[in-house]
Amino acid sequence: MKNLFKYLKPYLLFTVIAPLFMFLEVAMDLMQPALMSKIIDVGVAGGDKAYIVKTCLLMCLCAILGIIGGAGNMLFSTKAGYGFAKNMRSALYRKIQSFSFANIDEFKTGSLITRTTNDVTQIQNAFVSCIRMLIRSPFLCIGGIVMVLIINAKLSLVVLTAVPFLTVMIVFLLKKGKPLFMSMQEKLDRVNTVMQENLAGIRVIKAFGRADYEKKKFKKSNDALCESTMKAMRMMSLSFPLINLIMNVTMILMYYFGGQMVFEGSINPGEVMAFSNYITQILMSLTMSSFTLMFLSRAGVSIRRVNEVLNTVSDIQDGKDTEAKIEKGVVEYKNVSFRYPGQSGDNVLNDISFTARPGETVAILGATGSGKSTLVSLIPRLYDASKGSVFIDGKDVKDYTLNSLRSSIGVALQENVLFTGTIEENLRWGDEEAPMEEIKRIAGVSQAAQFVEKLPESYDTVLGQRGVNLSGGQKQRLCIARALMKKPKILILDDSTSAVDLKTEALIQTALREVFDEMTVFIIAQRISSVMDADKILVMDNGRIIDSGTHAQLIKTSNVYREIVVSQLGEEAVKE
Ligand SMILES: Nc1ncnc2c1ncn2[C@@H]1O[C@H](COP(=O)(O)OP(=O)(O)O)[C@@H](O)[C@H]1O
Ligand SMILES: [Mg+2]
Repeated sequence: MKNLFKYLKPYLLFTVIAPLFMFLEVAMDLMQPALMSKIIDVGVAGGDKAYIVKTCLLMCLCAILGIIGGAGNMLFSTKAGYGFAKNMRSALYRKIQSFSFANIDEFKTGSLITRTTNDVTQIQNAFVSCIRMLIRSPFLCIGGIVMVLIINAKLSLVVLTAVPFLTVMIVFLLKKGKPLFMSMQEKLDRVNTVMQENLAGIRVIKAFGRADYEKKKFKKSNDALCESTMKAMRMMSLSFPLINLIMNVTMILMYYFGGQMVFEGSINPGEVMAFSNYITQILMSLTMSSFTLMFLSRAGVSIRRVNEVLNTVSDIQDGKDTEAKIEKGVVEYKNVSFRYPGQSGDNVLNDISFTARPGETVAILGATGSGKSTLVSLIPRLYDASKGSVFIDGKDVKDYTLNSLRSSIGVALQENVLFTGTIEENLRWGDEEAPMEEIKRIAGVSQAAQFVEKLPESYDTVLGQRGVNLSGGQKQRLCIARALMKKPKILILDDSTSAVDLKTEALIQTALREVFDEMTVFIIAQRISSVMDADKILVMDNGRIIDSGTHAQLIKTSNVYREIVVSQLGEEAVKE
């Protein structure tokens, strides 16, 4: 909680004012039974009508003040609670934005969603009920006890014997509750993860006819959530009859002894009535505090989960050299090895060394899973090398600030994602300020202009979520354009032309070289035709570069390369 305090700070005033209003309400609640007993014992017993009217008016005034207290508390506690939650959510959002891929892999997206939404709401609710109930209950309880002691110390013993019973029960409930609430939040994580995965992959699910399977998977996680919620609620609902029992027994005992005392003349009937009201207030306030404490213990779980996110330091941090800028774009791998965090088994990359210079195109070829995407992901520091280093312009990538590094690198990732909005907005990701002419020129290079300009709304065409209303090849061409808009020194195209036809692909490559002749380009591709003209081809297998060279050299020196060429282009292609 200490950690989260800074998010509450702007709302400190409300947090202080709210309990003050609550004091007013509690004081007024405590006055009512005393005034009532006076009406009976003084007004009714003495036949004093004027006294009755006067006291009734006083009771009305108390009621109005009580309402003002209650409403004021509600208003300020809610304001503080919502503001607190808003700040926490913003902080979580900012934190998650700074996370590395590895951090996100570790938490899982679904859990991050639960933590920013549901967990924050739990904390907010507990906080609000804290500055409402946690003030109200103890004061009502203590005030009630003081009042019954003032009225009649002997009869108070009855009430006081009930208190330990209730206390034991509350402690028991709290002990039992915590693990149940923990499991509830975890089950909710699972539901959100399944849901999020499903929504993201809805097309694939439908195409594979996996809807039934996914439905079952969702049902399973949903049932588990329901079951664990029921468990927690069953335990909580068990407390209701128990509390009722304690309350009724106390009441009966009080009337039994109180009645006898009235006969003895040691207490007035009005005071017995006041007693029964105070007993209700005392026991109810204890019950309420047990629920509030339960809320708190549930919020404790959420606080831990929120803090876990806030305390995570992104394992990819800005470099020390804040001035460093990429001028040329010489990329050099020196004995780089890599394995994914938490991954067991062999390294994904082993002892990779090579250099790529401005104006060069380096192609990476290899079977799926050989580590091509992983290799290039180390350049913009989506991950950091486990051993060895990647240098750009002679400087370790870890020395640049992330902003300076990434602003000089254009990437079209294997899983390309476009965002809801117009085509123009999507392309402007690379350069907010670019004039329309420039957007059109770049779209021309990636051969996207050719189809965009045929669309009825041209660059104003609104893309659906993830760009659903485009073909795979069209999306790829827009993603390349988006990467180029940054005028990067280094361009990475990870399987970005796989859905583009051969002729268009050749046009893209030619245009790229004509317009960006000083760029260092990495092309990952499966097709020989895509990599044939590259200045250097790296052939990868199992995380290693097994051969490298130009097409002409590799045909002579690399068996693996020759095999790939033969399998794709036929025997003719390797004949001299
Ligand atoms: N986020 C990840 N966490 C753990 N392992 C991964 C992750 N991404 C890829 N891998 C593993 O790393 C290996 C190389 O993957 P990748 O670089 O994507 O290959 P390629 O692009 O050549 O198809 C694969 O065995 C894959 O299972
Ligand atoms: Mg890949």
